[in-house]
Amino acid sequence: MVVLKWNGKKKRNDILLAKQETNLFHITDIYPPFGIDFKLEEKWQNLLIWGENKLVLKSLLKEFRKKISLIYIDPPFATGGDFNLKIQIGEGGKTLDNIAYKDKWSEGLDSYLDFLYERILLMKELLASNGSIYVHLDWHNSHYIKLIMDEIFGNENFRNEIVWAYPAASVKTRRFFIRSYDTILFYSNSDDYIFNDDPNIYMEYSNRVKNALKKDEYGVFYYRGGSHNGKKLSRKVYVEQDGIFPRDVWNDIPYIRANTSEYQGFSTQKPERLIRRIILASTNESDIIADFFCGSGTTLAVAEKLGRRWIGCDSNKHAIHMIKKRILSLSESNDILNWKKKYQREPRSFKILAIEKKKEMDSIPIIFLRQAIDKEKRLEIKETPNFNVKIHQNGNEIEIELLNYEIPFTNLILDKVKESVKSFSDWIDYWAIDFEYKNNVFKNIWTSYRTPKSRIISLKSDSYHYNEPGNYRVVVKTIDIFGIEITKNFEINIIL
Ligand SMILES: C[S@@+](CC[C@H](N)C(=O)[O-])C[C@H]1O[C@@H](n2cnc3c(N)ncnc32)[C@H](O)[C@@H]1O
Repeated sequence: MVVLKWNGKKKRNDILLAKQETNLFHITDIYPPFGIDFKLEEKWQNLLIWGENKLVLKSLLKEFRKKISLIYIDPPFATGGDFNLKIQIGEGGKTLDNIAYKDKWSEGLDSYLDFLYERILLMKELLASNGSIYVHLDWHNSHYIKLIMDEIFGNENFRNEIVWAYPAASVKTRRFFIRSYDTILFYSNSDDYIFNDDPNIYMEYSNRVKNALKKDEYGVFYYRGGSHNGKKLSRKVYVEQDGIFPRDVWNDIPYIRANTSEYQGFSTQKPERLIRRIILASTNESDIIADFFCGSGTTLAVAEKLGRRWIGCDSNKHAIHMIKKRILSLSESNDILNWKKKYQREPRSFKILAIEKKKEMDSIPIIFLRQAIDKEKRLEIKETPNFNVKIHQNGNEIEIELLNYEIPFTNLILDKVKESVKSFSDWIDYWAIDFEYKNNVFKNIWTSYRTPKSRIISLKSDSYHYNEPGNYRVVVKTIDIFGIEITKNFEINIIL
């Protein structure tokens, strides 16, 4: 077998047999079920995990070995650049670009290959025997990773090298041809794998073909077949209306534009239509789909809309925050099978798990600061912000009003940021209430938050109705534009 070697390549068995960290997760939030639940496993909740994916993969092994039907990953490509996600401030929506992830590999290509090799090996352990994996890359390293995939999955399980071709941004170079496609390597885990001939994955006919199509008396499309010896033939050739079964060159899906409702402000965000084709082809309803580099959460959003179960992971806490809001506001996004309509359904229950420590949460990204202080590009804060609420109680109904939000470190913050904060609420990006806090797990029973397109948050909650008398603990949580999370507890006494 041909295998790729690099400096420091670990032995397969050393990676797989290394002491398996069992479940390092702690639950941070639960989004209680709205709407439909799964028939198959009633207790299932989709999972959004904040953490370094190698640890996450190891922690998932115990419960999910051979359970995942589809893994799509869009890892860093080792481009040498940094990629941003936009943080918007308050109602005005002024935007700052924060680093989402760095794609510089100071230890060189060997370290990049090692990084992906270890993780893809662990992913294979999670993949069901009829499952598939799609690895999204570009010209920088897809040729090396293809060899690694051959080694891990076997060359016989290679299915496609998909070329996702998109119109390139204008590039100044005149020294080589403009690069305008990404490569998606598709491998199955065995020869017996799910692959659906679903009309929703079809590619549209080209305009030339569409112009030549006619409808017969039953509304079925046909064209007049070809020519012979210079003579036109009049035979009707019938075609399937929904387009053509996809080839491996996908040139029918444009790159995300900032003016679309799908855009989350994440610079390497992928289009939902691209993931739709992959999910519909390679999974069935309620199968589990995972994305361990999930960025703005495109895979999770599409999996949710297509009724699949999902597991997503990212090491960036701002990405996790962005995804949470994307999933919560999905009803306002486009229906994935009928793009002209809104999706209009509430997300199913999901929970957020974390491996990272609280310390990581309480820091300010450098883009907000007057001066660079911390080489890790974040400043840890000594004193946390504070807020106050007013509780309006009327018998067994309560409403909570947010009264203020105080930042103790405004002297560190850039003037242009402070100038965009017109009211205390502009510091806040999200707040939520658990009216019946129990067992150290925060349930987002009521929440209000800003999305890229809808910048208004309400400062007073809906009214919550208690059915039983008793003492309740109410927990209010805020997340501000820096990503700092603050919670406060209150006791409520309900007498019926
Ligand atoms: C190219 S982006 C994914 C974009 C995504 N496909 C989308 O549509 O938004 C790669 C993501 O991987 C995350 N990432 C990089 N290294 C990671 C690691 N070791 N563990 C977890 N996440 C990681 C980055 O934070 C980034 O959000």
